[in-house]
Order: sequence, then structure tokens, then C-alpha cells
Amino acid sequence: MTSVRRDYRVGGPEADRATADGLVEAEWFRPPIDPERLRQLQVRGNARAALDTAAWLGLLAGFGYLAFLSLGTWWAVPAFAAYGALYGGAGDSRWHECGHGTAFKTKWLNDVVYYLASFMLLRQPTLWRWSHVRHHTDTIVVGRDAEIIFPRPSSPTSIALLFVPVMNVPNMVVRTAKHAIGRIDDEARSFIPVDELGKLKWESRAYIAILAGVTAWSIAIWSIVPLLYVGLPTIYGAWLMVFFAITQHAGLREDVLDHRLNTRTVYMNPVFRFLYSNMNYHVEHHIFPTVPYYSLPALHQEVKVYLAPASPNTWSAYRRILSTLRRQWRNPAYDEPRDDVPAVSDAGRSFVNTGHTVWAGDRHDGLFDLGPANALAPGSARQFEVGDETYALFRLDDGTLVCTEGLCTHGQAYLAEGLVLDCLVECPKHNGRFDLRTGEAVRFPATDPLTLYPVEIRNGRVVSSLQSESKGTGS
Ligand code: FES
Repeated sequence: MTSVRRDYRVGGPEADRATADGLVEAEWFRPPIDPERLRQLQVRGNARAALDTAAWLGLLAGFGYLAFLSLGTWWAVPAFAAYGALYGGAGDSRWHECGHGTAFKTKWLNDVVYYLASFMLLRQPTLWRWSHVRHHTDTIVVGRDAEIIFPRPSSPTSIALLFVPVMNVPNMVVRTAKHAIGRIDDEARSFIPVDELGKLKWESRAYIAILAGVTAWSIAIWSIVPLLYVGLPTIYGAWLMVFFAITQHAGLREDVLDHRLNTRTVYMNPVFRFLYSNMNYHVEHHIFPTVPYYSLPALHQEVKVYLAPASPNTWSAYRRILSTLRRQWRNPAYDEPRDDVPAVSDAGRSFVNTGHTVWAGDRHDGLFDLGPANALAPGSARQFEVGDETYALFRLDDGTLVCTEGLCTHGQAYLAEGLVLDCLVECPKHNGRFDLRTGEAVRFPATDPLTLYPVEIRNGRVVSSLQSESKGTGS
């Protein structure tokens, strides 16, 4: 070994180093994209996600039924293997996409699938929602990201245990039980807001109650079959989740602010893409998390010229990853080379904002000129700057113009780059949402309201005093 083993605990000593190095809640590279095209790609519907979800649950039920019919024969083994892979493997990308709230247009449909898949994976919904927000904020930043599954150096044993999580899942059950009795660990407290901890306790209690009920049923009939349907598939089906998850970040760089260096896109066949909900376009997902999974292939076409070439297929990605991991066993500081990332000379916020940002005109009669009233189409937004302050001007679908502060109250992302959904705007960074009529934060992780500013139209121009008129009530 040529370097000291790092401390991957969230909130441990590495967290202070990450802060000192400017890696915490920092701005990340984003490739340029036409704002109108991005807006098209962000559009959600219910039909595609409903079809995919029905296919997933239909297959799950079908293999579950086959397993039941073949109980007592060897045919039960492949039937349960397929059932488990759909439950503990394919459930992961459903959990993920619905956690972002991007699969369905309708919020409650995302929530139903999110809670179902969370249980299948034994992930406490509130804990993992916030953990995933952190993963997107500080991706593979040691001491900050709770979802680094390859702490270096990984070994053949640690990789094998990921595929069959005989230790990991029991540890998750113990952690859930502790949370159920109110013993919430420091890692969870480091990223979950205090007022969400109560929810975490009740979710944990529900999980423990279901698992205890199924276990009691198995004992009562002296058969493992009930547990093979609920509980154990999280363990014996996890291999498929890990099979895909390895391709996301393994072997790539830690502590960088560019997803092209720490995340991988892999071309996969249609079966894998169905099971994995297109998360093989992982660089694109990390950079633009407001784009739903079914639009990621199109997004890839828009931005691929700025990214490292995608791995041509799963096997070639694996060959490269395993070779890198083998080297990291000897030298944990080794990174998979990324010299194929194109240089983007004008990388940075101003480049991203091409077409978005305008500078507010001179002030007359105490009002700032925000541009022509007919320049904004319904459902679109524009960002503008006055001095050091950033603002956003939105046109809602009904034609109403709304001016707000320009940065998300959660993590300082530029809201004009977000998605306008009826009278809401969705933040481009973590999918938090605000009601543009009131400023109220209506979807996690945003909780603090937005400041609104009055606007009016004079001589065909939008004008505003940019004096705050209200602050929403938050949620
Ligand atoms: S930055 Fe996190 S929701 Fe906006």
C-alpha cells in the first residue's frame, strides 16, 4: 500500500478537510445546453412511467406466482432468483427516480412507488431521501457523501459482500430498529433536518412491524416461504442492484467538482436499460437531475460532445473497472484515467446561463426594466442580475409573470434553470419545488420560502421595484 486509508465516515475528520478544500455544496461543472431544449427534456408525463412500473410489477407478480407453483421442486430456484432480482435489484432504480420526483408527472404516483421500492430495499424513506440529496450535492466527496459504496481500497471480499449483502442488510435492519426506538445515529442527524426525524422513527417502526409479522408467520408455519417473498429478496436479489451500481462511480476520482471525472455513462442493451431505468446515462443524470429517465438518451445526444466517451457496453465498462479496482488494492490513490474528458474552455456559470441571464436595465421612477413583456413564453423563465443580486422572472402557464429571488433557498442553485410546472418551479439541483404564487416551499429538500417581488407591465416592458413584497410560509 502506498497511501494511508481514508476515513469515509460522514461527518468524520474528512468532512472538515472537504470544507477547507471548498468541496462542500460547491458549484459543479455543467456543459452548455440550449435552455429551450433543456426545458423540453425536463417535461414529465405519467404514461411512460406507468407502463414501465406496470411491466416491473407484472413481472414481479408473475415470477412470484411461478415460484409458488414450483415450490418443492428445483424450478423454484430460478423463479425466486428472478423474483428477487426484480425486487431487490430493479427496485433500486424505481426508488431512485421516484425519489427525485421525476418519473411521474403526478406527485402521489412518485410517492407510492418510492415508498414501495424503499421498503423492498429496506431503505428508510426519509433517511435515504436526504442521503441522496447529499449524494447529489457532494458526489463522492469523502466525509460528506453517504453513498460511496467503494471506499478504497476495496478488496475481493468487500466486493463479493456487496453482491450478497449478508452483513449489510442485517446491519440495515439493526439500524432501522434503533431508529424505531429513537436512537438516531450521528450520520443520519448530519444530513436530516431535525423536524424530519419524527417521520424517520415512524417509518422505521412500520418496517420493523412488517418484518416482524412476516418472520412470525414463517415461524408459525415453520416455513421460510413467506420470508422468501418479503424481507429476504432484499438480500438474495441485491446482486442486480450492485451489478448496475458498480458502473456509476467505482474506480473514478474522489473529491472533484466535475461529474465527468467521478461518474460514468455506459451504453447498455434495452433489457438492462429497462431494469435500470436508463440510469446508465449516469453522468447526464447527475448534471441534470430534473430530466426524467425516459429523456436521458436524448439528453445524452445533446451534451455528449462535452463528456468523456461513454463505455461502449457493460462488459467493457466492467473490464476497465475491475482493472482499476485491482490497482487500487495496491495503491488506493490510483484513479481510472480520465484524459478523454474534453476541455471546455468556457466552463462555468456564465457559460451555462447562455440564453438565460440578462442584466436588468436602468432604474427609472424606482423601477427596474426587466425586458420586453412578450419575450417570455408560458412555462419559461429568465434570470437577471442587479449588482450582486440574482433574480428570476417566470411566466406561468396562465400568462402571469412572477419575479422571485434567483437562488434556491436550499442550496443556492439558479432557479431560472429549473422547470416550471403549472404554478410551481422545480429546482435544477435537488428537485425541491416552490409555489410561485406564494413563494412557499412545497417539496423537499427545499423548506425555506422564496422571496417574491412585484411586477407590472409598462409600455410593453416588465418592470419591478425589486422591493420584497412577501415571503411564503414554507412547509
Ligand atoms: S438547491 Fe437543493 S432543492 Fe434547490
